[in-house]
Amino acid sequence: MNKELDFVKDMFDSIAPRYDFLNHLLSMRQDTVWRTQMVRAAALQKGSRVLDVACGTCDVALEVNYQTRGSSQIFGLDFSFGMLRLGKEKLMKMKNENISLLNADALNLPFKHQIFDAVFIAFGIRNIIDRQRAVTAFCKALKNGGRLAVLELTTPEKGFFRSLYLLYFQRILPLIGSFFSKHHNAYTYLPESVLKFPPPIEFSKIMRQAGFENIRFKQMTFGIVTLFIGTKP
Ligand SMILES: C[S@@+](CC[C@H](N)C(=O)[O-])C[C@H]1O[C@@H](n2cnc3c(N)ncnc32)[C@H](O)[C@@H]1O
Repeated sequence: MNKELDFVKDMFDSIAPRYDFLNHLLSMRQDTVWRTQMVRAAALQKGSRVLDVACGTCDVALEVNYQTRGSSQIFGLDFSFGMLRLGKEKLMKMKNENISLLNADALNLPFKHQIFDAVFIAFGIRNIIDRQRAVTAFCKALKNGGRLAVLELTTPEKGFFRSLYLLYFQRILPLIGSFFSKHHNAYTYLPESVLKFPPPIEFSKIMRQAGFENIRFKQMTFGIVTLFIGTKP
């Protein structure tokens, strides 16, 4: 693994115990609304086979399970053992047996090609440096007609809201994040990684080059989050 990858993995391992709490606090609970909309947008059928890449503490996987009323076979994959452990505890508390967890890298998916009806990745793609390679791997893992849904933090493009958002994101959020997580770098890395993420049009091109079609994106909450959907032809 390279240095940046090690940094991201160690960071998530160490913030894992406070991750869910801080997610809800820093997003003012909008994170749950965004994940619900993401899963809904994939229009899953009953009995789907689904992969949640960078699943963290399993919130997307659990939302898939909820929306498909327990009929789906769901795999959650993440390279941070700390995040998966928290996810596993949640699944055990809920006695959930539909979600299987794997400790693996998004760039080396341990699955055969063409086996998933949908692949999700929420707030994970910006941490992956070689996004083109990752999205191409997701496309290979999908059946023809399968959907990729990507949810990612983005930066509002212009206006007063952009200035307000940057003030919150670059000055206030790192203070709150480091106070509760006791990890200063993590909540400084967060705004830096979001600002480096390409504008929605550019990320859509990556999806197209990976082989997706009917690519759409929807900016939510004044553009601080964008949901991308594409279909494998
Ligand atoms: C911000 S969290 C998002 C977790 C979850 N999807 C959610 O909606 O809350 C990002 C997750 O991506 C994982 N991650 C980052 N890069 C990864 C990679 N190359 N392979 C697997 N997991 C990765 C991290 O370990 C972390 O759990």
